[in-house]
Amino acid sequence: MGDTAKPVARRQLPLRPAGPDTVAALLDWYDRERRDLPWRGKRGRRSDPYKVWLSEVMLQQTTVKAVIPFYERFLARWPTVEALAAANLDDVLAAWAGLGYYSRARSLHKCAQAVVAEHGGQFPRTEADLVALPGIGPYTAAAIAAIAFGEAATPVDGNIERVVARLFAVRHPLPAAKREIKRLAETLTPQRRAGDFAQAMMDLGASLCSSKNPSCLMCPLQQDCHAHASGIAAQLPVKLVKPNRPVRYGMAFLALSEDGQVLLRKRPEAGLLGGMMEVPSTEWGDDWPPVDQALIAQPVRTDWWTVPGAVSHTFTHFRLELVVLRAIVPVGAGLTFWASPERCRWVPRRDLHAAALPSVMRKIIAHGLKEH
Ligand code: ADE
Ligand code: SF4
Repeated sequence: MGDTAKPVARRQLPLRPAGPDTVAALLDWYDRERRDLPWRGKRGRRSDPYKVWLSEVMLQQTTVKAVIPFYERFLARWPTVEALAAANLDDVLAAWAGLGYYSRARSLHKCAQAVVAEHGGQFPRTEADLVALPGIGPYTAAAIAAIAFGEAATPVDGNIERVVARLFAVRHPLPAAKREIKRLAETLTPQRRAGDFAQAMMDLGASLCSSKNPSCLMCPLQQDCHAHASGIAAQLPVKLVKPNRPVRYGMAFLALSEDGQVLLRKRPEAGLLGGMMEVPSTEWGDDWPPVDQALIAQPVRTDWWTVPGAVSHTFTHFRLELVVLRAIVPVGAGLTFWASPERCRWVPRRDLHAAALPSVMRKIIAHGLKEH
């Protein structure tokens, strides 16, 4: 029996590994599609190091959209590194309120002072010198060196990590695969336009190469992408499942004075939300504190009314559930020893917006002031 239908030779074209052509295609795409972001210089121009540094510190753990209003306010108020270095730390913390990770605001301020005191107000130009500054880790140092100074440095944030893992079909799970991904990203970093390359990868990761639904058909890197070729783009990068966050519980005391002030307390400088203002509360423990024990922590000796419902807030390492107790007390009411009166302050309700109140504390106040 003769062969009638010859099998069609289906030759799989060898997929070229991502390399200089991939980078060129990406930069072309960036030149057409780059996002106009307030800290980015005009097309083809270097960006201002102060702006790059400020934006990169703000952008860790958050999105571009969340950062822009904070960035604009910071820059209007402190337009130069000298101005920020001379600012009062409490004002910086207050302007940071809502962005989270408050130790970053402290090291931001410290870093500005170091740039002024040790570098004459000019940011050092190399990754190696930048990483020696307070609050500048390997990612931020590489980002500033590449974006502001054109050094062939390789910052790897979550977006870049995802794009690289897919381009090279890295199947090892994160976080162990971080080193491998960084090394692969370094093989791509071009000598020219390293800053544009990094930002192009970020923009691609924030748009077409999204974590759940990558738009591979529109992607400028499609021909070179090994994850796409294997049909596993949406499955990469693999991440080890994190154990569930533990939950902590507490009771917060929202004391209102008859003339409309709210009792706030400054948190200790060290530790979670260090130096920020808070609504006084019990310790946050593994279970709800019994009421009689909770009342030891009351800032004012008075009758408290339990606000229905609870406030829930997620931190990096735990979730917090708080019940809010509310009381209206006479002006000048004495504070209890347990409230650490030296750290307490009555703040008029109309001034709360400017106080250094982190999001969780704003939630508590909003919950406690709701009409029930
Ligand atoms: N995320 C962190 N840095 C960024 C930048 N320079 N551009 C866009 N997204 C970013
Ligand atoms: Fe991401 Fe798909 Fe582009 Fe690969 S082809 S880089 S998976 S969008």
